[in-house]
Amino acid sequence: MAESAELILDGKSYSLPVIEGTEQEKAFDIGKLRDQTGYVTLDSGYKNTGATKSAITFLDGEEGILRYRGYPIEQLAEKSSFIEVAYLLIYGKLPTKAELDNFSEQITKHTLVHEDVRKIFDGFPSATHPMAILSSLICALTGFYPESLSPNLSAEEIDLNVIRLMAKISTIAAWTYKNNMGHPLNYPRNDLDYCSNFLYMMFSFPTEKYELDSRIVSALNKLLILHADHEQNCSTSTVRLVGSANASLYGSVSAGINALWGPLHGGANQEVIEMLEAIQKDGGNTQKWVDKAKDPNDSFRLMGFGHRVYKNFDPRATIIKKAADDVLTALGLEDSPLLKIAKELEQAALTDEYFIKRKLYPNVDFYSGIIYKAIGIPTEMFTVMFALGRLPGWIAQWKEMRENKEPIGRPRQIYTGETERDYVSIDARS
Ligand code: SDX
Repeated sequence: MAESAELILDGKSYSLPVIEGTEQEKAFDIGKLRDQTGYVTLDSGYKNTGATKSAITFLDGEEGILRYRGYPIEQLAEKSSFIEVAYLLIYGKLPTKAELDNFSEQITKHTLVHEDVRKIFDGFPSATHPMAILSSLICALTGFYPESLSPNLSAEEIDLNVIRLMAKISTIAAWTYKNNMGHPLNYPRNDLDYCSNFLYMMFSFPTEKYELDSRIVSALNKLLILHADHEQNCSTSTVRLVGSANASLYGSVSAGINALWGPLHGGANQEVIEMLEAIQKDGGNTQKWVDKAKDPNDSFRLMGFGHRVYKNFDPRATIIKKAADDVLTALGLEDSPLLKIAKELEQAALTDEYFIKRKLYPNVDFYSGIIYKAIGIPTEMFTVMFALGRLPGWIAQWKEMRENKEPIGRPRQIYTGETERDYVSIDARS
């Protein structure tokens, strides 16, 4: 491997050190570029620019590889639990039984939220999207735990905030849905595991016994595992950037929730179902909609297709597609018209030159909504589910940024506006 790259500028030669990661990814270190040359780099959307070094998640977009702390996502989805994967991402290793039991018990014991949270719900207009409520209430946790604002927290104090956040987001998410439906809010139950407790808070009523379906609990576990981290995506980069200003964990995650809400990012899972329902309502002519997605004069995109990094296939989509088949068959919904349309859409796109040329394949969002819908989660809550899954990844990345003492993030720009000009009094303006 070359030790450095030579840059020749205005007749002068500069050496850029080359660094290589543990998976042979290579980069030019341009940390001293501006000091040495007066030049900066420009890379709209950071398609070629690494923002950091990280030991949390590795993905290979060409090979369709995704590993959390070295463990392949296929094995974790099959053998692990969401809480165990959360521990792995946040603390860097698979926990011993004692460590997992303690982590899980700590989370269970912090699922209650301050009773004043109920009052905050009353302040939201009825049309407020669940993601707006989620980001607001996660940020509001700084009001219940003002000590979390300190940039000098000890490792133990950070761990307490991690436990609080992992625990309370599930209660806040479920209460957001119940409040939106006008249903009684359900308190968490300490006798249930994380996913069972969430489903209980989401779908039970105080008027009758709630029966948990182990197939749904298992499907939710798998979906949350598959969403848990994805290296430097838009929302994770947001969490790291906000956190680099010494903003609290709660404030940084609240910012990440808003980035995830974007329809081009995590909001795509809601868009996919709405797209499938529109196609169904339109008579199910998938080719017509594929043609719309290809039309340069039509802003319509095939939601759930394409990815900035995966240019072959999204390994998560492969697992979720199979899980969708399994869950819907188990629930007697194998004839779901939306699943049928999704598969026809995928087939039409994968054999179409436009998508093949642009390396557009189904991503994590294409099939996940079909499972969420089948287990009773309403469309507007889909991106909240994505946030629930992604939380341990955001926490792990925020902790890593802090532990590595990374400087405040502050990108450069190339100015293209007006050059210097004098102020003109208002009566002299045209
Ligand atoms: C997530 O980064 C992550 O890791 C994100 C994520 C995670 O886990 O955190 O994986 C989660 O955000 C998944 C992506 C969910 N978004 C969607 O499904 C929305 C639909 N997809 C796109 O808008 C798009 O594919 C992106 C945003 C995902 C990626 O966009 P890029 O890499 O910036 O690519 P691009 O917009 O420059 O598109 C390249 C070409 C363009 O055509 P041309 O200008 O070359 O003619 O492909 C076309 C685009 O018009 N294109 C699509 C398309 N996606 C890209 N055309 C039709 N349908 C699509 N879905």
